Order: sequence, then C-alpha cells, then structure tokens
Amino acid sequence: MKTILPDASLDQIFRTARTYYGWSDRTVEEKTLRDLYDLLKWGPTSANSSPARFVWVRSEEGKEQLAALAMERNRAKILAAPVTVIVGNDLAFSNNLSKLMPINTDAIRAALAPAPVAEATAARNGTLQGAYLIIAARALGLDCGPMSGFDNHGVDVAFFEGTRIKSNFICSLGYGDDASLFPRMPRLAFEEAGRFA
Ligand SMILES: Cc1cc2nc3c(=O)[nH]c(=O)nc-3n(C[C@H](O)[C@H](O)[C@H](O)COP(=O)(O)O)c2cc1C
Repeated sequence: MKTILPDASLDQIFRTARTYYGWSDRTVEEKTLRDLYDLLKWGPTSANSSPARFVWVRSEEGKEQLAALAMERNRAKILAAPVTVIVGNDLAFSNNLSKLMPINTDAIRAALAPAPVAEATAARNGTLQGAYLIIAARALGLDCGPMSGFDNHGVDVAFFEGTRIKSNFICSLGYGDDASLFPRMPRLAFEEAGRFA
C-alpha cells in the first residue's frame, strides 16, 4: 500500500531543499555516491533507454580541469564542492538496448536510429535522469548545486573523448552550508504554470 511521504521527507526533497554552492567539511563517501546511482537508475526513461552517463569529479586534478572549463562565476563553486558530477547524454545509448529492453529490441532500435530521434531521446531522457539524480541525492540527505554555465564542447573533449557522450549539466554534491544561501525565489502558482483541459 503506497502512502504519502511524511511532510519532513517532502520538505527535504522539495519544499525546503535549496540549491547550494557552499559546503560543510563533511565528506561525501563513495558508498553514498553508489547508493545515489542505485536509486536514480530506477527512474523511468523511454524504452528503458537510460542514456545518462555520469563522471563523479572528486579529485583535486579533476576539479581543476572542470573548473577551468566553467564560466568565471562557477569556477570557485566547483573547486569548493566535495564532488561535482558531470551528467552526459550518450548518443550511442542504443548499444545497451538488448540488455535494457530485450523485448522487441530490433524494432525499437530501428525506431530510435534516425539522428534527430536519437538526439531528442538522449536529451529528454538524460535530462530526466539528471532530475532523478537531484531528487535521489536530496532523499539521501545530500545537497545539490546544479550548473549549466560551462563550455560543453571543452568538457566533452576533456571527459568524454572517444565516446558519443555529450555533457548536459553538472551538479555539485555535498552537505550544504546554510550560511551560503541567498533568500529563496518564488515559484509560479498552479494557475500560472498550467490549466485543466
Ligand atoms: C540545470 C541548471 C543549471 C543551473 N546553472 C547554474 C549556473 O550555471 N550557475 C549558478 O550559479 N546557478 C545555476 N543554477 C541554479 C539555479 O539558479 C537554482 O537552482 C534556482 O534558482 C533555484 O534555487 P533554489 O533551489 O535555492 O530555490 C542552475 C540550476 C539548474 C537546475
């Protein structure tokens, strides 16, 4: 029987969760990152295509390489974070379909083969998986600092050379320092964001 999660959980994941770029000294254990992937991987993607790929940048060398490819205002944020994950979309995601979608694989692979379809599928589902990453991280008590202000091509060359993976966004992970927060911005009301039809 499914239940509504307790308010404290909904607060932690959504209502009081914030975007962080300042961090406490608490270490992010490798096990936590593995637990994070083991949660986010269950989020749905079309044809179970699972196109997102992740580079967990945690070494000083990796952080410096990534920071050098970021917009000026994001550099210090990357260097300060315990981990910054690069979320990429693998345009060659179809190679895994025989494992991920063993039923009707050939027909699905053919339907997804045209370049515009493959690109849209990778972008749509890879971005969804990036959102699952943020939700799963918060569910595990981590805080997130997503960023799109970086040189995508440069990151692709530095971190995804020899593959068909294209960087989407990056997301710092850690235990946030509340002192680094700005006042929260509002969100659109139900009626502003949508309508019934
Ligand atoms: C995909 C994405 C890209 C973002 N890019 C940047 C960025 O490059 N630099 C930055 O300082 N903030 C960036 N942000 C942070 C957003 O401005 C922030 O998450 C939003 O204002 C909500 O803040 P809140 O969670 O504290 O309410 C990005 C957020 C997302 C989801």
